Amino acid sequence: MKVTVFGIGYVGLVQAAVLAEVGHDVVCVDVDQNKVDNLEKGIIPIYEPGLTPLVKSNFEAGRVVFTTDAEKGVTHGDLIFIAVGTPPDEDGSADLKYVLAVAETIATHMQSHKIIINKSTVPVGTADRVTARVSDVLANLNKDVTFDVVSNPEFLKEGAAVSDCMRPDRIILGTKSERSEKKLRELYSPFNRNHDKIIVMDVRSAELTKYAANCMLATKISFMNEIANLAELFGADVENVRKGIGSDPRIGYQFIYPGCGYGGSCFPKDVQALVRSATAVGYQAKVLEAVEAVNYRQKEKLFEYIMRFYNNNVQGKTIALWGLSFKPNTDDMREASSRVLMEKLWEQGAKVQAFDPEAMEETQRIYNGRDDLALMGTKESALNGADCLVICTEWQAFRAPDFDLIKAKIADQVIFDGRNLFEPSLMSEYGLHYYGIGRGQSIVQTV
Ligand SMILES: NC(=O)c1ccc[n+]([C@@H]2O[C@H](COP(=O)([O-])OP(=O)(O)OC[C@H]3O[C@@H](n4cnc5c(N)ncnc54)[C@H](O)[C@@H]3O)[C@@H](O)[C@H]2O)c1
Repeated sequence: MKVTVFGIGYVGLVQAAVLAEVGHDVVCVDVDQNKVDNLEKGIIPIYEPGLTPLVKSNFEAGRVVFTTDAEKGVTHGDLIFIAVGTPPDEDGSADLKYVLAVAETIATHMQSHKIIINKSTVPVGTADRVTARVSDVLANLNKDVTFDVVSNPEFLKEGAAVSDCMRPDRIILGTKSERSEKKLRELYSPFNRNHDKIIVMDVRSAELTKYAANCMLATKISFMNEIANLAELFGADVENVRKGIGSDPRIGYQFIYPGCGYGGSCFPKDVQALVRSATAVGYQAKVLEAVEAVNYRQKEKLFEYIMRFYNNNVQGKTIALWGLSFKPNTDDMREASSRVLMEKLWEQGAKVQAFDPEAMEETQRIYNGRDDLALMGTKESALNGADCLVICTEWQAFRAPDFDLIKAKIADQVIFDGRNLFEPSLMSEYGLHYYGIGRGQSIVQTV
């Protein structure tokens, strides 16, 4: 089938590559000429396991092409995905300017019936706004062409995006049009063989389903962080509590890990956006407001521990930091907890010596030229001359380090662990001070 994808980001590129892989004929359009040039040279703009060979082989086979030529894209696709960013506006609501710009572009160039598919995460009512925008442009241009707008939110997880798209849990289609439903069922049939994963519903419910899913996951994390903070004050160990409650199948073990807060391009902005959308219809989303507030506070947790340990003075200290990306298996630094920590440490005159398996280039791009940040080639070299070690991201490579080496290299022999990777009892056997999240240390000892 002839497919066009507008926006070659985490969602658009993965979606395009996966659709091409099963045989669809895909044109990807982006406004970023540099990104398009690089993709044509085989340079993939993001780190995502399995993505590079998938993009390269489908590009070489001619099943996916990259362009900034919007007209070419619109002419090509019978099905046109909108997968551009929906960043938070100043008040936290989703900024739809990129989505609506693509809607206008499609309307400007379309000469035949198009199915326009909203894959970006967009507030309830956006399909109506896209429909109105396309209709206005068509009317202004005196064009008599039909189209349909479908909501098809994306549920991929960064770090597992390719496998999530290849084997989705569900495919949500928000449409009342039988013709569009039929076409989308055909498009997705290669991913829908094991059992029917397609759930068809009205457009508004589909739009809300995406926010509800992300908000539920964010709620689980903030809830667990709240319990972790209580455990710390009560002298309990949240890791025991986690196992204790996870064993209840109504709760489950997934997504109840306490830590130094959630980040990324989705949870923070989607929780905020739903809160703002709720306000717009006269409803105060109190649970979601609390989810956001707890997360904001949680991202400062490691900094609080460090400041307490150093008696509120980290001036001149060198902090070894393992993990910069907002979660493992990605180089995405958007809203990463590491950024909150680094920026707070820098304000207090500390130096950061960091290592991440994939996010070094992105960190360099964001914090270019800072002399209080040193990006080190290995996790071991990040320890050189450091006073303490902090862990912000649970990469596999950090799970079983050489603790003797850490003890020998870190001046104050202390680990602040934002992801609870180690057992406190093992850390004392190695003679290391150890502070995890909610592990019963109500008062961090000072040096
Ligand atoms: N990243 C995720 O894990 C994820 C998961 C599910 C849903 N989403 C949602 O999908 C959407 C896209 O997210 P992303 O992370 O892929 O964004 P991204 O920022 O990685 O990519 C967006 C791309 O759109 C391009 N773009 C902007 N305006 C354009 C235009 N007019 N025409 C063509 N291209 C244009 C940008 O240059 C950029 O390359 C967002 O709404 C997001 O909330 C993201």
